[in-house]
Amino acid sequence: MWANNRFWMETQNLVTKRYGGKRKQHWYALLAMMKTFEWALKRCGQYERGLRNAQAIVLRELAVPLLRLPAAFDGFTILQVSDPHFDGMPGLEDRIAELVRGREFDLVVFTGDYRTQLHGPIRGVMASLERLIGQLRARHGFLGILGNHDDCHMVAPMERMGIRMLINENVVFERGGERLRIVGTDDVHYYYTDQSLHALEVAAEGCTVALVHSPELYDAAAEAGVDLYLCGHTHGGQIVLPGGMAPLKHLRAGRHLFSGQWRHRQMHGITNCGAGTSGIPVRFNTRGEVLALELRRAQ
Ligand SMILES: [Fe+2]
Repeated sequence: MWANNRFWMETQNLVTKRYGGKRKQHWYALLAMMKTFEWALKRCGQYERGLRNAQAIVLRELAVPLLRLPAAFDGFTILQVSDPHFDGMPGLEDRIAELVRGREFDLVVFTGDYRTQLHGPIRGVMASLERLIGQLRARHGFLGILGNHDDCHMVAPMERMGIRMLINENVVFERGGERLRIVGTDDVHYYYTDQSLHALEVAAEGCTVALVHSPELYDAAAEAGVDLYLCGHTHGGQIVLPGGMAPLKHLRAGRHLFSGQWRHRQMHGITNCGAGTSGIPVRFNTRGEVLALELRRAQ
């Protein structure tokens, strides 16, 4: 049922909204605007600088204190890779792998947007992703969710390569009789359904990390009792003006959560700036990143 519904929305270029209603996607109009901006950057000699900025991705280490984290999971490590858009930056998978070479994490999570194109073949981006996970080490394996640029047909190949896909589902890890739950939703920026809200309700059962492609469910997740909300989608603004203003955030809710670490009520959140770029392969005043997170038991 989920795949049928998602496939129908994808082929109709539909965006479904929280609280009801739907509209057509504006992605290709936006892409045309960005291509004009790309032309202007080339004319004024700034394109190469933006390209170099985009390719200089970093590994950022963050400790995340959680009140409900069971003692057995104190020090649990998660590598979060978000928004690689492999078709927009050839070779990105090897640059990510290089940043974490020799490291082993408890878990690796992928929070969506494996490609830039909204339609068409997926074989190339799936091959890049498979090449990346072949170079990563995770004691408890790989988890993934879909982003708004992703196709429902990616679920099967991603599972075949060893990524457990969470489409409004959750998985529980146990250590010494204690539990940590990871819940993942479908993308809610284009493909919102109430199933994503319902999936978050498992947070009532104990310490829960939510994987949602964009920050747009932050209020519902906090209400449900989620402890940590991991997302991406915004690329930290990708092209940010001096002073920190980001003209394009691609968010309908939670626009203030477009980058970095944040809190909403009891919930901690992290909006990953993404490893790749979309539209045009440049960044200004932001850095592409992958995040190495360490969960800590808050006092
Ligand atoms: Fe996205």
